[in-house]
Amino acid sequence: MTKVLVTGAGGFIGSHLVDALLARGDEVIALDVGRKLPVNLTEAAGRPGFVYRRCDVTQPLAVRRAFGDRPGAVVHAAATVGVASYVASPMETVESSVIGTRTVLRTAMERSVRFVYLSSSEVFGRNPAVPWLETADRVLGDPSLDRWSYSSSKGLCEHLVNAAHTEHGLPTSIARPFNIYGARQRPAFVIPLTVHRVLNGNAPVVYGDGAQTRCFTYIADLIAALLLCLERDSAVGETFNFGFPKERTILEAVRAVLAASGSDLIPTHADAKATFGAGFDEIPRRVPDVRKAERVLGWVARSDLPDGLRPTVEWARAHPEWLRLPLG
Ligand SMILES: NC(=O)c1ccc[n+]([C@@H]2O[C@H](COP(=O)([O-])OP(=O)(O)OC[C@H]3O[C@@H](n4cnc5c(N)ncnc54)[C@H](O)[C@@H]3O)[C@@H](O)[C@H]2O)c1
Repeated sequence: MTKVLVTGAGGFIGSHLVDALLARGDEVIALDVGRKLPVNLTEAAGRPGFVYRRCDVTQPLAVRRAFGDRPGAVVHAAATVGVASYVASPMETVESSVIGTRTVLRTAMERSVRFVYLSSSEVFGRNPAVPWLETADRVLGDPSLDRWSYSSSKGLCEHLVNAAHTEHGLPTSIARPFNIYGARQRPAFVIPLTVHRVLNGNAPVVYGDGAQTRCFTYIADLIAALLLCLERDSAVGETFNFGFPKERTILEAVRAVLAASGSDLIPTHADAKATFGAGFDEIPRRVPDVRKAERVLGWVARSDLPDGLRPTVEWARAHPEWLRLPLG
């Protein structure tokens, strides 16, 4: 049994990880910014071994206090997430990511605590040479485009995490998730946004012609990968792509949601720059090479999009409060 500190625990990925850790008998210290228990942690809060602490990860004193509970490992998932956030508040995007990661990492270094970092497939930017190995180049746009603030901040955080390992010997791992979806995700990304619109009887919206591609990865597959990162010595000092390797266009993904929902609504098209502003820039293709995760960790993603959409849509139907959330 381990005691694991999870930052951003009230969010989509953090809350699923908390549930999985508790289910296997670990103790969890869950950190997030809300004074009240985040709704995603309602079930976890009823289980033994769970504690919630309000903690802004950019605040060193609060983070040090949370480490007073003596975790044996940290999974750092807190960040400002979502395209709308990057273009509306790039400063917060960069600061919460870089200052938050530096603060949590430095505190983990003081106590030699195993550290797993949630980076992102966004670090690769728009490198056209897909599929991307972990060592592929980062190809980003002009820093005057706010779009790249998130990718840049994640890249800088990876440098910090790698340096904590190579310079200071901290046992670290970096996970780069590719387009994760599932229950509880905010309706701010193509899958949950489309599920939300369709179940509310509204036509789904596709940005541009919908020919841009992604590899959609079910949350349970990512959680399995994060548990392996925590468990395996072979994960120490390593960076991994975690994604379901089948490439799909956005239009195909939207059609898959319509099929999973039993809907015959017709998608409409919108201009992303008109929605997100001139600071937006599209990534035409995003495809991981996941052979390293299989070779080193024995991890493969199991759920193809239709398999993951079934429970996602079912969950959404059973949660009318989620269907009433504002979009974005
Ligand atoms: N969802 C994906 O497809 C995806 C893909 C790649 C990477 N990631 C990364 O995984 C992590 C979790 O993403 P998510 O999808 O669960 O997002 P999310 O927005 O659902 O969760 C993030 C959580 O972090 C919290 N947070 C933000 N700033 C904080 C701060 N200063 N102090 C404490 N908590 C703070 C938020 O309140 C939120 O609960 C992020 O680091 C994200 O960049 C997610």
